[in-house]
Amino acid sequence: MTKAIRISAVGGPEVMEYVDVDLPAPGRGEALIRQHACGLNYIDVYFRMGTYPQQLPAGLGMEGAGVVEAVGEGVTHIKPGDRVAYAGRPPGAYAEARVLPADVLVKLPGAISFETAAAMMLQGLTVQYLFRRTFRLQGGETILFHAAAGGVGLIACQWARALGVTMIGTVGSDEKAALAKAHGCVHTINYNKENFVERVKEITDGKGVPVVYDSIGKDTFTGSLDCLSPLGMMVSFGGASGPVPPFSLNELASRGSLFVTRPSLFNYIAKRDDLEMMAAELFGMVESGKIKIDINQRYALKDVAQAHRDLESRKTTGSTILLP
Ligand SMILES: NC(=O)c1ccc[n+]([C@@H]2O[C@H](COP(=O)([O-])OP(=O)(O)OC[C@H]3O[C@@H](n4cnc5c(N)ncnc54)[C@H](OP(=O)(O)O)[C@@H]3O)[C@@H](O)[C@H]2O)c1
Repeated sequence: MTKAIRISAVGGPEVMEYVDVDLPAPGRGEALIRQHACGLNYIDVYFRMGTYPQQLPAGLGMEGAGVVEAVGEGVTHIKPGDRVAYAGRPPGAYAEARVLPADVLVKLPGAISFETAAAMMLQGLTVQYLFRRTFRLQGGETILFHAAAGGVGLIACQWARALGVTMIGTVGSDEKAALAKAHGCVHTINYNKENFVERVKEITDGKGVPVVYDSIGKDTFTGSLDCLSPLGMMVSFGGASGPVPPFSLNELASRGSLFVTRPSLFNYIAKRDDLEMMAAELFGMVESGKIKIDINQRYALKDVAQAHRDLESRKTTGSTILLP
C-alpha cells in the first residue's frame, strides 16, 4: 500500500482525497518509483474539474521525481536505484510511490535535485517545445507571453533572455510584474489595469508581434489575435480563464492571414527521441545557470487542496511542489 490522492467525482479542490492505495508490482514496460517530490500544474485543475475527462476513480498529477525501486519486463533504459523524473500520462503523480509506463522516465543528472526536477519537468519541457519547436525563436524577435510570473512563465522569461528574445509578459499584479522583469522579461503589462493590445502596439511601434503564447484562453484569445503582425502565429496552449470559444476562420484572414495552433506537451514528447532531446536541452539550461527554477510554494501532499485553491486564485508565482 502507499498514500496517494484519488478523486471519485469531478469538482472543486474538496474532491481530492488522501487515501491508501494498492501498489502493484510493475508489469511489462512499467516501473515502480518512490517519489521525493511531485509537481503542481494547471492541467491538474482541468483534470480535477472534468474539463479533461478521465475514468473515475482516478489519480491526479502529471509530474514527479524519485528513485526507481523496480522495473517490469522489457525495461532496459533504467534500473533500480536510478534517480529519475517525468512529465507524462496517465495522471497519478500525487502519490508517495507509483507504477507508471517506464518510457516517460528520464535519468536525472546529479546536479539536479528531486525538488527542482519535480518543479520543472512539465513546465520546462513546455517552454522548450513552445520556443524551440512550435514557433522556433531565433533571437532578436519581440514576443508576447501571457501569465509571465507563473510556473511556465518564469521559465519562459529566462529562456527568452538566454535566446536574446525581447519578451513582453502579461501579469495580474505589480508584484508579479517586478518578478517577471527580474527573470528577464523586458516589458510587462498588468492586464488587470492596462489594455494589453494597446500596450503591445505601443511597444512595437504599431507592428505587432510575430508570435503570441497564450495560456489564458477565454479572456485573452481575441486580444492576442489583435497583437499579431500579418502571418503571425497564435499559440493557444491553455485556458486558465476557460476554454477559447468557437470562432470563425475569417477572423484569421481579416487580421493578416494568421496561423493558430493548439499544442499539447504530450504530443511533443510522445516519441522517446524527442523526449530525450528536449530533456537534455532543459537540463543543459538549468545546469549552465541560464535558468533557475523558482520553487515559490511547497505543500505536504496531504494539503494538496490548499495548493489547488492558491493556484486557482492566482496567489502562486513560479513553480509549486507537493512533498509526499
Ligand atoms: N499545452 C501545454 O502543453 C501546456 C503545458 C503546461 C502548461 N500549460 C498551460 O500553461 C498555463 C500555465 O500553467 P502553470 O501550471 O505554469 O500555471 P501558472 O501560470 O503558475 O498559473 C496560472 C496563472 O494564470 C493566470 N490567470 C489568468 N487568468 C486566470 C484565471 N481566470 N484563473 C486562474 N489563473 C489565471 C494567473 O496569473 P496572473 O495573476 O499573472 O494573471 C495565474 O497565476 C496553464 O493554462 C496551463 O494549462 C499548457
